[in-house]
Amino acid sequence: MSLSRILIATALTGAVALPALAQESNPAVNARQGHMQVLALNLGVVGNMARGNTDYDPEAAQAAADNLLMMSQINQRFYWPEGTDSESIEGTRALPAIWEEGSQVMEISAELVAATEGLAAVAGDGLDAMRGALGPVGGACGACHDDYRVSN
Ligand code: HEC
Repeated sequence: MSLSRILIATALTGAVALPALAQESNPAVNARQGHMQVLALNLGVVGNMARGNTDYDPEAAQAAADNLLMMSQINQRFYWPEGTDSESIEGTRALPAIWEEGSQVMEISAELVAATEGLAAVAGDGLDAMRGALGPVGGACGACHDDYRVSN
C-alpha cells in the first residue's frame, strides 16, 4: 500500500471511530473517575480500621497511606480537559466551577497532598496515631466534592 493510501485509510478510520468513542466514554473522564476509585479504596482500608470495622494492621495501614500519598501526587493535567464538565457532556459529575475563575481545586489538591503526607508519616505507628491523621484527608476529599462535584 502506498503511503498516501495508508494516510487516507487512517484518516477515514479516525473519522469514523472518534465520534463514536466520544459519545460512549471520554478517556480523561474514565481516568479521573478511576483515580478517585483508587483513592476511595485505599481510604476505605484506613477508614475501616479507624472505625473499628476491621482490626488495625500497621502494614496494611501504611500501604494504604502510601498509596493515597502517591495517588494525590499524580500530575492531574490530563484528567481535566476543557469541555468535560457536567454541563457539556454526559457521564461526569465534574462541575463547570472547576474551570472557572477563582477555582480552588489546585489549592484543595495541595491540601490533599499535605494531608496524605501526614497520614503516611504515622499510619504504621499505631491506631491512635493513624486515626489522628485521617481527618484532614477526608476533609480534603469532602471540601472538593462539596464545591466541585455534582451532589447525588
Ligand atoms: C480537588 C478536587 C477533588 C479531591 C481533592 C477529591 N475529589 Fe473525588 N471527585 C472530584 C470530582 C470533580 C469528581 C467527579 C469526577 C467525574 O465524574 O468526572 C470526583 C469523584 C469521586 C468519586 C466517584 C468516582 C466515579 O467513579 O464516578 C469518588 C469515589 C471520589 N471522588 C473519591 C474521592 C476520595 C476518597 C478523595 C480523597 C482521598 C477525593 N475523591 C478527593 C473531585 C475531587
